[in-house]
Amino acid sequence: MKVLVTGGAGFIGSNFIRYIIKKHPTYKIINLDKLTYAGNLENLADVEQNKSYRFVKGDICDQKLVDQVVEEGIDAIVNFAAESHVDRSLYDPKTFMQTNVLGTQTLMESGLKHRIKKYIQISTDEVYGSLKEGDDPFTEKSSILSNSPYSASKASADLLVRAYQKTFDLPAVITRCCNNYGPHQFPEKLIPLFITNAMEDKSLPIYGDGLYIRDWIYVEDHCRAIDLILHKGKVGEIYNISSNVEKTNLEITRMILAYLKKPSSLIKHVKDRPAHDRRYALKAEKIRKDLGWEPEVSFEQGISLTIDWYIKNKGWWEKVKSGEYLEYYQKHYIKRENS
Ligand SMILES: NC(=O)c1ccc[n+]([C@@H]2O[C@H](COP(=O)([O-])OP(=O)(O)OC[C@H]3O[C@@H](n4cnc5c(N)ncnc54)[C@H](O)[C@@H]3O)[C@@H](O)[C@H]2O)c1
Repeated sequence: MKVLVTGGAGFIGSNFIRYIIKKHPTYKIINLDKLTYAGNLENLADVEQNKSYRFVKGDICDQKLVDQVVEEGIDAIVNFAAESHVDRSLYDPKTFMQTNVLGTQTLMESGLKHRIKKYIQISTDEVYGSLKEGDDPFTEKSSILSNSPYSASKASADLLVRAYQKTFDLPAVITRCCNNYGPHQFPEKLIPLFITNAMEDKSLPIYGDGLYIRDWIYVEDHCRAIDLILHKGKVGEIYNISSNVEKTNLEITRMILAYLKKPSSLIKHVKDRPAHDRRYALKAEKIRKDLGWEPEVSFEQGISLTIDWYIKNKGWWEKVKSGEYLEYYQKHYIKRENS
């Protein structure tokens, strides 16, 4: 099988490429990535010499380039490429619409033209909007009620994928996963930001009261789910993916501080972001029942593996946290810490 993975230099995409090369050594993998601030080829240093892997630098919005790659006999496209950080979508929504919506459409056009056998859209639980405490978790049938420009762009793409499947018979499947954590996650997201800040004895800027709830999954469990969907997922379906681990941001922060033996005085409550979703939680019965998927990593195991990875890979995140990221952090987070 020849698989085009887009956004493979980012967090989940790089973990997926590593997973798939190990699991299916005969597959050919092409990684198309624009290398935005979030894309980092160092995430794939251990596989770049592998004969079954090839990197192509480029934008998923570039129809000519995407066509060239897909016409090489691609069987399946797994689309991870996206602008993925909610906070950034508040400052620059247009880039989110371009990549997340128009990029998706460009990939699907090529997929149709070259008759690929499967298109997987990696979406998110954020498209469902927010739950209150006590509400039932979202199912695949829940309404789409996005609250941030990021989730609106992902939801728009989901609707477009549905339309291409219904109208043009694109063999498409949509996945909606909860919050991922694990190695190689860009340190602007809660878990890696707080691990690395704590290691540097910097404050941990927690939004509002810190009681926002997210549903967490270890990235490798997510990669296993996508692999199953690639082979057995039913065209036209949406699959929620979740390990049903609901935790408040404050609980996670305390776990990180305890593991690193750092004081809770590093926690700094900062002004909340607008339209901050209070709680996400997913029901993932369909993938469990129909495809036999089960998560294998508990939160306690996963968070230890993750913190240990950041301890061992200080060089990786120190480099990542300088440059463009530092500029962004100073402009937005520090402004919030001081407000
Ligand atoms: N991180 C999570 O918790 C989570 C949860 C559910 C779903 N998702 C979805 O999974 C996907 C991957 O998320 P992630 O956390 O790995 O993101 P990430 O920000 O770490 O990586 C995104 C990758 O996409 C690339 N990219 C961005 N714009 C591009 C473009 N125009 N053309 C080609 N490449 C481009 C970047 O260079 C980067 O390598 C996203 O679609 C996201 O919406 C993420």
